[in-house]
Amino acid sequence: MAKLKSIYVCSQCGYESSKWNGRCPGCGEWNTFEEAAAPAAAAASSKGRQRSNRDLSELIVGIGSVEASRDEVRYPTGLSELDRVLGGGLVRGSLVLLGGEPGIGKSTLLLQICNFLGEDHTILYVSGEESARQIKLRASRLGVDTENLYLLAENDCEAICDAVIKEKPEIVIIDSIQTMSIQGLSSACGSVTQVRECTNLFMRTAKSEEIPFFIVGHVNKDGAIAGPKVMEHIVDAVLYFEGQRNLSYRILRAVKNRFGSTNEIGVFEMRDKGLAEVPNPSELLLSGRPTDVSGCCVACVMEGSRPILAEVQALVTKSGFSVPRRTAAGFDYNRLYLIIAVLEKRLGFFFGGLDVYINVVGGLKLDEPAADLSIALALYSSLRDKIVDERTIAFGELGLGGELRAISYAEQRVSEAERMGFERCILPAQSLKSIDTKRFKIKLIGVRSLRQAFDAVGG
Ligand code: TYD
Ligand code: MG
Repeated sequence: MAKLKSIYVCSQCGYESSKWNGRCPGCGEWNTFEEAAAPAAAAASSKGRQRSNRDLSELIVGIGSVEASRDEVRYPTGLSELDRVLGGGLVRGSLVLLGGEPGIGKSTLLLQICNFLGEDHTILYVSGEESARQIKLRASRLGVDTENLYLLAENDCEAICDAVIKEKPEIVIIDSIQTMSIQGLSSACGSVTQVRECTNLFMRTAKSEEIPFFIVGHVNKDGAIAGPKVMEHIVDAVLYFEGQRNLSYRILRAVKNRFGSTNEIGVFEMRDKGLAEVPNPSELLLSGRPTDVSGCCVACVMEGSRPILAEVQALVTKSGFSVPRRTAAGFDYNRLYLIIAVLEKRLGFFFGGLDVYINVVGGLKLDEPAADLSIALALYSSLRDKIVDERTIAFGELGLGGELRAISYAEQRVSEAERMGFERCILPAQSLKSIDTKRFKIKLIGVRSLRQAFDAVGG
């Protein structure tokens, strides 16, 4: 008889190994391995596999004959920012994971949408963190007073699923997956095994009952995600709620979505009465901008279908170290090195002996090559102490030869810049060709190289 096998699973990243390790080869964390029972299927080797006595040939169907007359049913949540990230509302029977650091506002967001959803649907809010009384207090602070919201303070996953099947609410919210447990499993709440098994159970309930589930998952500070990472492949959509604790606005980002695009973001602001939508993020991100300081330049990035303007700040200063510092907040560190290299080699600006700091104001992440030109201009502006005019905006991808390459969505970016009151826009000459220039009042300056861009800002 085969010996009952056990495996070891990293509680940080879910890495599986047949032996215990002091340090996880997957994520590099120490002392994170826990013993877990090996799944039964893994024990059967492929050689000795028995033939299944089920015949599935009757179940195989041609795609044309699958009945799909019914569109996927979506419930609008009442917050258009959230609806956009979800791809147009919450899909019936879907499992949505809402991840984020503790205290970022996940429970607040989900409680708030209950107000609108509760007008037509029954909602079961299951909390393993707060008592019903605490939730009620928070709800009344947020102005949530729907009759259709039912509360349950419980953390027994199987009992919750039984209750859901019996009571049939139309929407279920689980806050949070780290507090849920299955009694039969020996590992503690929040461990990889518990999180995975609970998610699987919720998934089965969601699919069989066609009830959408929102599941909250906490993410720890350094982004190493204990729970949510192991759940990502199970759930239908993964949304991350991000933001800096000391800044009031929050960005909701989809990193996986089986029912929509993953490029969309939603912007919220945390107020004393809960989260408020920010339909016009550019305005918020540009407010309070210094106008007479060198090292600032405005960039335009596309977040899904929406252009967003953000301010890039650079500070180039004499270094006190033999190896100068380069730091980038909100921009790719390696890309910064590349831009500095291009500035040195192609334009003859030298950054040796100088510290370079880049900051994208407002916690936005510029992960699009179109932000290159603004970074380069900000660096140049700080290095030469030349102010880039506050009504100038720039975008374009930088090539290694110092040339500027065409970017996508040029027209949308230009219209957003014009709408926000900018007067000059520096963009790659290639992209300028694709724009109907007569439509715009903003002055469009097409440039072929970084040198020309510097000339255009008055270098
Ligand atoms: P919460 O939703 O409890 O966070 P999470 O569920 O992600 O852990 O958010 C808590 C934070 O939000 C808390 O630090 C206080 C702040 N907050 C407000 O600023 N205004 C409000 O109206 C509410 C309800 C919370
Ligand atoms: Mg919470």
